[in-house]
Amino acid sequence: MNKLAATPGFLHGGDYNPDQWLDHPEILKQDLKLMQQAHINTVTVGVFSWALEEPTEGVYNFGWLDRVFAEMAKIHGHVILATPSGARPHWLSQKYPEVNRVDENGRRHTHGFRHNHCYSSPVYREKVRQINTKLAERYGQNPTLLMWHASNEYSGECYCNLCQSNWRRWLQRKYSSLDALNRAWCLSVWSGLYSDWSQVLPPSPLGETKVHGMDLDWKRFVTAMTIDFYQQEIQPLRELTPNIPITTNFMADGPANQQYTPMVGLDYSKFAKAVDVVSWDSYPEWHNNYETVAETAMKTAYIHDQFWSLKHQPFLVMESTPSYVNWAQYNKAKQPGMHILSSFQQLAHGSDSTLYFQIRQAQGNSEKFHGAVIGHDGTADNRVFQEVATYGAQLEKLAEIKGATKDVRVAIIFDWESQWAFDRGGGFGRPTRLGIQTLQKHYAIFWGQDIACDIVTPDADLSRYKLVVAPMLYLQRPATMQALQAYVAQGGTLVSSYFSGMVDEDDRVLLGGLPTPLRELFGIKRRELDTLLPGEHYHVHYGSNVYPTHDYDEVIEAETANVLATYTDNFYQATPAVTQHHYQQGTAYYLAARMDRDFLTAFYAKIIAKLQLANSFVIAPSYEVSCQTRYQNGYQYHFLMNFSETPQTVKLQRSTLDLLTGTPVEKTVTLAKYGVMVLREKA
Ligand code: GAL
Repeated sequence: MNKLAATPGFLHGGDYNPDQWLDHPEILKQDLKLMQQAHINTVTVGVFSWALEEPTEGVYNFGWLDRVFAEMAKIHGHVILATPSGARPHWLSQKYPEVNRVDENGRRHTHGFRHNHCYSSPVYREKVRQINTKLAERYGQNPTLLMWHASNEYSGECYCNLCQSNWRRWLQRKYSSLDALNRAWCLSVWSGLYSDWSQVLPPSPLGETKVHGMDLDWKRFVTAMTIDFYQQEIQPLRELTPNIPITTNFMADGPANQQYTPMVGLDYSKFAKAVDVVSWDSYPEWHNNYETVAETAMKTAYIHDQFWSLKHQPFLVMESTPSYVNWAQYNKAKQPGMHILSSFQQLAHGSDSTLYFQIRQAQGNSEKFHGAVIGHDGTADNRVFQEVATYGAQLEKLAEIKGATKDVRVAIIFDWESQWAFDRGGGFGRPTRLGIQTLQKHYAIFWGQDIACDIVTPDADLSRYKLVVAPMLYLQRPATMQALQAYVAQGGTLVSSYFSGMVDEDDRVLLGGLPTPLRELFGIKRRELDTLLPGEHYHVHYGSNVYPTHDYDEVIEAETANVLATYTDNFYQATPAVTQHHYQQGTAYYLAARMDRDFLTAFYAKIIAKLQLANSFVIAPSYEVSCQTRYQNGYQYHFLMNFSETPQTVKLQRSTLDLLTGTPVEKTVTLAKYGVMVLREKA
């Protein structure tokens, strides 16, 4: 068992930068006192400390870090130690300029900012190996070390000559011959055929931006390079500290443009295999002016569930803010109660931690107005600190839940490669592709009814799910189609839609309409796809209601499928819009049009009833009150969370024990605005 798994209780704490306060010993002393008051048990240190740890090449300075370990030991806390490769010291960029990235326009950047080194650079890799070895030698056996935090938020790409050679080598390994590459990327279009490997460059605004297969491979290559860099970065840690788990903090995209989704820049399903524990940095935009708090909660829940599903194991929230961020257009404070509610939501979906960026607010530089546990006032006498402290004390009462698992019967399929290809392809509606946003619309139906969902890749073991939701699975390999077929054949229920099975793994259109395995599975033929303009809607008659369509109406023909709904207008009037097909032991549904929540609610209601997916604890769940359950040692732990602006009464099937107050509770409970309860019962 690794050290994290063996550590009792949830982690509470976060990024701590004593290196910004070394000339203020009184502040460092005060930090320790305040951390204890806030029930903080974990600090993440050294994320951006390379310039202090190695002020000049080969000269190391760890005294300050020794003191952090010693101080944390005194308060029986843990240290998550970061490797510092997220930001280089000046001397490194100056002496070895090749460590700086070259952008897509071929410009080598000078030193500055962070997260921007060349992943290929042998010098950078060697320098990282050296500093990481020093850290592992010095702290690897220190009992206060809990885990490694490799680098920070890996992302981005480099276009230098070295990266270009690696790109060509990667392609040579993948395709073996130029002919194969020319075919895969369809390069006879626009005279793009290569006659020599040296002609192959990365996509760039100065050169090639239109070859979709190239773009897709470039993204695969960037993921492969990043993981390769990470593997080399952690090698000394693995060798010297085999029992200390290693993570790196993953990210989400947004919140911006009213969207909040897992980051798609790197294929985290691949990266997750290389880390011991998944962790991510969670910064939802609570109290925004474009959606209700419950909608923000739903999107955040989706991301938590996706990070859970990467390993089907508890993950860590590595960063979150106790109050506001500093990088949004408008950096709003969390309202009273929201900090505690949003933090419990992390645990409810499978996190074993609430960690913050950051413990003490910086005095200067770019993040001085980012929220923190200890603000510029430096006291416990403010609302943010007190909410953190209240939450910390509550966490201690819930220690038995750490490590608890989940029981999930519904899976939504998300594939990074399909998403990349789908976003890249021309045609259709550019602003209305909305791949992940559409998945979140389906997810919302289940989240709103307290039915847990996993978000998995197409190669997951689908047999563990009663329902698999796979709309708009644009890129499909033969193996994916076979897996979907096998899942339904063996009794599974599948929901798919327009935009599924359109291209192969090279982003080449699958010829002949809906590919045969999918045609057999859904019992339909695909005819054509109509892209709708903003504000243009047609209608679908389903049950006793008529629902508007948005963005896409696909025209299909039912071969062996039953028609559940038909279009009522436009040139496809009276043709099928929703079908159901009994395929061997299971059932496959096909949604030909994009429809809104009202339709999805009505559509899934029947499936939920048929498959008996309804939540077995909450009676008549409401969208604003979420219940998520974790399981451990014969107990179920229900997290009840009120994401509405008013008190809510919830009716429950059974009486339970309120773990936060230690008192039994009856079958009806009332949650205050933003209120939370954690209820325990025998499983
Ligand atoms: C994260 C980053 C932290 C800090 C934080 C501010 O993306 O890892 O170092 O900058 O954002 O929200």
